[in-house]
Amino acid sequence: MHHNKITFEVQPGGTLQGEARVPGDKSISHRSIMLGSIAEGITEVTGFLEADDCLSTMESFKAMGVSIEGPKAGRVTITGVGLHGLKDPQKPLYLGNSGTSMRLLSGLLAGQAFDVVLTGDESLSKRPMKRVTDPLRQMGAAIDTTDDGTSPINIHGGVALKGIHYEMPVASAQVKSCLLLAGLYAKGTTSVHEPAPTRDHTERMLSGFGYPVTREGPTVSVQSGGTLKACSIDVPSDISSAAFFMVGASIARDADVTLLHVGMNPTRTGVIDILKLMGAQIDIINTRVVGGEPVADLRIRSSALRGVAIPEELVPLAIDEFPVLFVAAACAEGQTILTGAEELRVKESDRIQVMADGLKILGIDATPTPDGMAVIGGPLGGGVVESHGDHRIAMAFSIAGLRASGPITIHDCAPVNTSFPTFVTLAHCLGLKIKAHKGDAV
Ligand code: S3P
Repeated sequence: MHHNKITFEVQPGGTLQGEARVPGDKSISHRSIMLGSIAEGITEVTGFLEADDCLSTMESFKAMGVSIEGPKAGRVTITGVGLHGLKDPQKPLYLGNSGTSMRLLSGLLAGQAFDVVLTGDESLSKRPMKRVTDPLRQMGAAIDTTDDGTSPINIHGGVALKGIHYEMPVASAQVKSCLLLAGLYAKGTTSVHEPAPTRDHTERMLSGFGYPVTREGPTVSVQSGGTLKACSIDVPSDISSAAFFMVGASIARDADVTLLHVGMNPTRTGVIDILKLMGAQIDIINTRVVGGEPVADLRIRSSALRGVAIPEELVPLAIDEFPVLFVAAACAEGQTILTGAEELRVKESDRIQVMADGLKILGIDATPTPDGMAVIGGPLGGGVVESHGDHRIAMAFSIAGLRASGPITIHDCAPVNTSFPTFVTLAHCLGLKIKAHKGDAV
């Protein structure tokens, strides 16, 4: 999907001012297609994220016989086929860069009548899948990966799944969601215990589709035998995309930004808590509930950040925001220490190593550790950094340009399209001096 290389070039000296609505939430957009497809009736989605990852999920369900119209200006109409109406796609489902698609679909497809193969791009083909295939096998799934436990994932259909109780060794919303979706097709009850709270969009959305979900403390369970009834879904703005501008407005001089309609699900707001601990000025205004998910507008102004020891319980609640939080740390007074975040090493890139390498190039004292990083804030210089094809790394280093003394060039930025295709335009409108160029050289 990303044959063309894109390079970002950010000039120093910009700031961020004004109002913006960042695109729809990626996690919720994926789930709207998945649940809408296996529901009965017509599901209308607004605010859908029109980015490569969510389009991969959409193409997969189209290949399995679901009629889906759109996306057009964020509107998608899905004609659900019911829990047992998906059809054999007759070819492997290519999921691009999307870990969410691969892990959630593994569960949803483990109990179907047909065989299916899930594949992805180079980055996705390196990511750990044993975390889903092991418990799915315990449920009776016939599922194979490579010897390393990576994709392609081969799922053999026509098996009878049975519910299990699973104690997740890692706090992962993708693993939890995978098992709950498999549980819709498994005999009896499927329950998942999470070692720390993780995003709960699957549970909320299942309830929104009228499917009973039970939560008792850290354990969520579903039983098979129910049906999903089509509904309308209004997808809030993605707090993970908003996070770039929260950090940007905090570190830039004279910044004042209002981000509209941001998803404020408490399992996602760790970035706000961490930034506030660092001294950021973030006003949460106009809080409301939209389609079962809390939403608010956020006003962020420049502030003098200070280094902190990031509380480990906030790690799963801010798991996708660490690339840009490391940039905040680089601009803070003193040392910021992150621990308990080894998961960052198996995201779209090894986000600990890649961020530490880039920050060092920009003159920051950043020491990677097996499960986190120590960053000492200081003057940011310019330089040429590598995103390693990781969308969030590319956007994080772009934001660093707001405080850098020289231009920052970021290579391999095409994958920004997987989560935030309008990033450059929006960032530029708010005042970041960013340009995207085709090719490696500027
Ligand atoms: C996601 C869960 C998180 C997150 C990813 C999206 C989801 O992954 O990093 O971007 O939609 O469930 P893990 O569950 O692996 O932490």
